[in-house]
Order: sequence, then C-alpha cells, then structure tokens
Amino acid sequence: MNILALETSCDETSAAVVLDGTKVNSIVISSQIKTHSKFFGVVPELASRAHIENINSVIYKALKNAGITFTDFAQQIDAVAFTAGPGLAGSLIVGAVAAKSIACIYEKPIIPVNHLEGHIYSALIENKSVKPPFLSVIISGGHTVLIIVKDFGKYKILGNTRDDAAGEAFDKAAKMLGLSYPGGPVIDKKADKGNPKAVKFTRPYLKGSWDFSFSGIKTALLNYLKENPANNRKHLNDICASFRQALAETICFKSFAAAKEFNLRQIVLGGGVSANSLIRTMFLQTGQKNKIKVFVPSIIYCTDNAAMIARAAYLKQKKCGLKYNQNELKSSACLKLTNWN
Ligand code: KG4
Ligand code: ZN
Repeated sequence: MNILALETSCDETSAAVVLDGTKVNSIVISSQIKTHSKFFGVVPELASRAHIENINSVIYKALKNAGITFTDFAQQIDAVAFTAGPGLAGSLIVGAVAAKSIACIYEKPIIPVNHLEGHIYSALIENKSVKPPFLSVIISGGHTVLIIVKDFGKYKILGNTRDDAAGEAFDKAAKMLGLSYPGGPVIDKKADKGNPKAVKFTRPYLKGSWDFSFSGIKTALLNYLKENPANNRKHLNDICASFRQALAETICFKSFAAAKEFNLRQIVLGGGVSANSLIRTMFLQTGQKNKIKVFVPSIIYCTDNAAMIARAAYLKQKKCGLKYNQNELKSSACLKLTNWN
C-alpha cells in the first residue's frame, strides 16, 4: 500500500510517500526554525501561516521525488494519512484540510494518525520486523512519555512529564546559556567538548512514579548561572555536558527501570530528543548490558516528519481497515492516545 502522509502538528511542514510503511519513496521536511528562532520557541500564529504558505509545494515535491504526478496520482497512491493531533490547532488544520481535499478529489481513503503514534512507530520504519510488546520512550519538544505498547494500537501509558518535556528543558536551558533555538542540537554539540562531571545537577528520579520532572534541573542550572556569572562563557561546554548528562541519565534510568518492572525485552525510542548523541549511546549500551533490545530511529525520523505518520497509518489500516469517513474526521489540539478498535 502506497501512502501519501502529511505532518503539520507543530513547526515542520512535511509530506512523504511510503510504501507498506517501510519503503520511504520520498520525504520532504520544510522547517520553520528561522521563523521561530528569534522568539526562542514556536509562535503558533506564525507556524500556521508558514504551513499554509508551504504545504502545497511540500506535497508537490514529495510526489515529484517519488516519481508521481497529479495525472497518475489515482493509480499510484492508495490512501492519504495526516496528523490529527495533538499539536497546535491552527497548524493541524492546515494538514487536515490538505489531506481531506486530496482524498476527496482523488476518491482515496483517509487515515487520521495521532502524532504520538508517529513517534512510537518511527523507529519501525527501518526495523520492520519489530513486534510488540515493547516499551515506547517518547522524548520530544512537547512530550516525555513512557508507554507500554502491548500490541499495535494497544497502549498503557505509564508516565508523563509533570512540567517541561525533555526537549523543552533543552530549549529553555539553551536560552539561559545564550545559545540559539532549538537548544537540543546546540547543547548536544557543545556537550561533546565538555566535562560531564564539571557541574553536579540533580537527577530527578521521582521514585515510586513513572512520571518525569525536569523543572528542578532547569532551576539548578539557573541558580548555577546566577552564582557563577563569570564562569558561564568559560565553562559553557562543561555546563552543556553536565546538563545533558543529567537529563540523559534520568531518562535512561527510568526507562530501563520500567522495562525491567514490566518484563519488556524491547525499548523503542522516538521524538526529537532521541536524536541526542549521548542518549542514543547510553540507551544502546545499557540495553546491551541488560539484554534488552533498543531501537532508535535514524536522525531524520527522530524529529517531526511525515514518514512516521505513514508508518503508523499503515499499521493502523492493517489492523482496523480503511473505515474513516471524511466528514467525521476532525483534528484536535489535545487529541488523546487511544487504542485502535
Ligand atoms: O519531535 P520534535 O521534532 O517535536 C515535537 O513533537 O515536540 O522535537 C523537537 C525537540 C526540540 O525541543 C529540540 O531541541 C529537540 O527535539 N532536539 C534535541 C536534539 N535534536 C532535537 N534535543 C537534544 N539533542 C538533540 N540532538
Ligand atoms: Zn513530535
């Protein structure tokens, strides 16, 4: 099944053509980083405007790169998928309207996908034989969630963040350090050149709960910077390395504790923060030590992209069929993760 998928939940306009959920024939991601970087975060109104400006050319390029024209679209594409939520309301609507219009014109079935499901299954684009049960660890700019995936489309949420998401913590830390947005990749690069033991930040393990909380590490960084103003620049790489270490250890420790507690032998990472070089190595090494298989998406599939939406859509239609009525499909900014039935 060849799926055209669209992702517009936040600040990336993306379209992909993916065969059977695993063969990515094309993927186009138009990033709005330049638009938002001066505000150190995503401005919803600007994001939806940029999606409107970009969506047509992104779809056109994705089809062209897959060797598909609008003339042979009907023969080549079997279904259209889109991110129905959660995300920014205005951004979601742009993708939903585009997907529904195309599906309507070409009389194609349409598959709504929860954005979190995109992240859950993104590592399975390149690991097609992975089957549940597994522990999904989603660490992104908007979410930090531990989910037991009992079967495709059957979930048990173990824990969420109580305050900032992991990516948000990186982005806010970068702002405090005078670095650019998004902060995750910048801190990651600087951290490679620093000493992770230079500053001792707390590890908020929240024993007795599977939730996360990163506001304490953030405040610790703020206090450190206030108390050591002269040091900031000189030790920037060390501060970044220490901050990254604290976040990575916290996420890794809790994820493996959950996998052991629930006897899960596979961990699947997803979300923008799974692009972090230390987090990737730490998970892979800890997995080897504990005989738990760890799957991480390629960097391009970590941050928001439409190929992961196509992957989730493919699995969903395989299990539930193509049953969605266009007129009933709505996008929702706070869409909950629910089981397929
Ligand atoms: O998954 P994503 O594209 O968007 C959401 O669904 O939220 O994640 C974006 C987040 C940003 O906060 C960004 O700073 C973070 O992913 N990120 C990273 C890295 N690359 C992106 N965080 C840490 N290390 C990285 N290398
Ligand atoms: Zn995302």
